[in-house]
Amino acid sequence: MRAQKRSKKPAAAAGAPTGSLPGSSADVVVRPVRARDLDSVIAIDEQITGIGKADYWRERFLRYGGRGRQPCFFLVAECDGEIDGFIIGEVRDWEFGTPPCGWVFGISVRREARLSGIGTRLLDALCSSFRKAGVAKVRTLLVFDDMLVMTFYRSQGMMAAPIITLERNLTETIIE
Ligand SMILES: CC(C)(COP(=O)(O)OP(=O)(O)OC[C@H]1O[C@@H](n2cnc3c(N)ncnc32)[C@H](O)[C@@H]1OP(=O)(O)O)[C@@H](O)C(=O)NCCC(=O)NCCS
Repeated sequence: MRAQKRSKKPAAAAGAPTGSLPGSSADVVVRPVRARDLDSVIAIDEQITGIGKADYWRERFLRYGGRGRQPCFFLVAECDGEIDGFIIGEVRDWEFGTPPCGWVFGISVRREARLSGIGTRLLDALCSSFRKAGVAKVRTLLVFDDMLVMTFYRSQGMMAAPIITLERNLTETIIE
């Protein structure tokens, strides 16, 4: 399952010159999404899910990427003018009766750019935004057997939350 690893630059002290290691996450800038990034976001999502969802991502951009919409966050990782990944999250107040909390709704890194620390950079940046927004906890939901995403989140210190998801089928059985 593990892809070939690109080099990771050791963390530099704050304010120290970072130098440049091609292909390392040190070359990556994490910033808020812009309209011109949307085609790349759509392509990365399609690479992962196999489904092109242009309308969905445009709607996400309007909701999470628009100005003055904090605390909604839609961040991208850019390296040499190319978008390598993105993350979306939001602070939700008193959802499910719990105190305000940062929720990660999605994270994706294009296959060719993985294992160089970009996912970590994206999650760190989102958590930093959550902290600035005043919350002390971050949560996410994932499919229980998605081992890649589970391994990633576990590597970031995320643990099982005291929450479970319930569902019910709303389609009726039609007997002809
Ligand atoms: C999960 C994902 C975001 C990780 O991005 P990434 O940039 O490769 O992550 P990082 O390089 O920061 O990896 C951090 C840690 O995660 C773990 N990890 C990541 N990918 C892994 C893999 N393929 N195998 C094992 N561990 C892995 C490792 O512990 C890694 O640390 P290490 O390299 O020091 O061992 C990326 O694989 C991805 O986009 N997957 C698809 C996600 C998806 O399905 N999104 C849609 C629903 S949200």
